[in-house]
Amino acid sequence: MLERKQIGIQPSQPHSYLEHQEQQLYEWVITRDGFEGGHTIAHVVHQPTSSGAATLFPIPEEFSPHTDNTPQLLRRAHIQGQQTAMGKDFWHSRKCLLFNHDCHISTIRGSVSMPGVSAKEVAFANADSDELYFILEGEGYLYSPLGMNRFRENDYLLIPRGIPYHFQCTKSIRGLCISGKPTLEIPAEFRNPHGQLKLEAPYAHRHFSSPERLLKDKEASCFQNVVTLKGGVFSQHSYRHNPYLLRGWDGSVYPITFNILNYMPKTGKYHLPPNLHLTFRGNHFVVCSFVPRMVDYGKGAIPCPYPHTNPSCEEVLYYVSGDFTSRKGIHAESLSYHPMGISHGPQPGKYQASMERRSTDEIAVMIDTWKELKLTRTAQAHDDPHYETSWQ
Ligand SMILES: [Fe+2]
Repeated sequence: MLERKQIGIQPSQPHSYLEHQEQQLYEWVITRDGFEGGHTIAHVVHQPTSSGAATLFPIPEEFSPHTDNTPQLLRRAHIQGQQTAMGKDFWHSRKCLLFNHDCHISTIRGSVSMPGVSAKEVAFANADSDELYFILEGEGYLYSPLGMNRFRENDYLLIPRGIPYHFQCTKSIRGLCISGKPTLEIPAEFRNPHGQLKLEAPYAHRHFSSPERLLKDKEASCFQNVVTLKGGVFSQHSYRHNPYLLRGWDGSVYPITFNILNYMPKTGKYHLPPNLHLTFRGNHFVVCSFVPRMVDYGKGAIPCPYPHTNPSCEEVLYYVSGDFTSRKGIHAESLSYHPMGISHGPQPGKYQASMERRSTDEIAVMIDTWKELKLTRTAQAHDDPHYETSWQ
């Protein structure tokens, strides 16, 4: 989470009386890490605790991890994400491809409207994980009780765990969603002891956007019915009075956006390892950003990644755009999966060809996990059978 922000009204003293238009407001406090972490104090019109009975919400199998538990051979994979079907709504557009206990990696392709069981639009909250979207194509607005975040192509969109959200988009979205259990954060080493991002961090405070304004009451009507994911179960809560009509908030827990092209990459005299592109850190995994940059400039330098074995780390790359220096047969929305235990590296010809390069225009998102990932049935159905032989 970033610095403290505020929108709307607050009392001068936290946890004290506040009214708006002669009506007393209720406090709604959002905390992280028990009561030790970041927090936001919001002020709402109706009691936020007055939900009706919970009901199970039907979710397509592909939304969540789904596997037949057959042994997964140790091999590299190219998951052709661009070949997965476009979805008719949010529930059908999000498809989990790879997962472990700490993170779920899904593509999002299609409409992101959020219909409920009836025709009414609902909101979604992930109470297990923070959620990080990467938008490859599309634009729109993310509504949360804390306001409206605008997003566009090449934006990351980081939504704190437990906060309901709703997409407002007129066109389809293509991109990636990484759920980080329990959290996904800006790495602590990028901050100084005062909480400010250091000068050598790959981004600055001004590169992040927060909710621009509070929602109008009509816009917030989607929060009358909220589908919440907790422990793998999707429950819908319907409220008699909308609990998320806000009149103000202040704090450090809120959705943020960050455009990957604002990431400030580092280039070395000779090749720097991929962890130099660190962007977000989860529990036993990291998210890194590869963006257009000058490449290694030392005499005889080979800009292409060196072949390597990393026995403690699984590597997933989501390809966005540009000419990928180390891969062939890969296109936008492809995901490569290189497991721990066997080596990987550039395909034949790519290693030598990279010596002529002075720059790269590639954009890609990498997820490195410290624990084994499983491919879902959807991933296996779109697994390129020729990928392994591309090194021959
Ligand atoms: Fe690698």
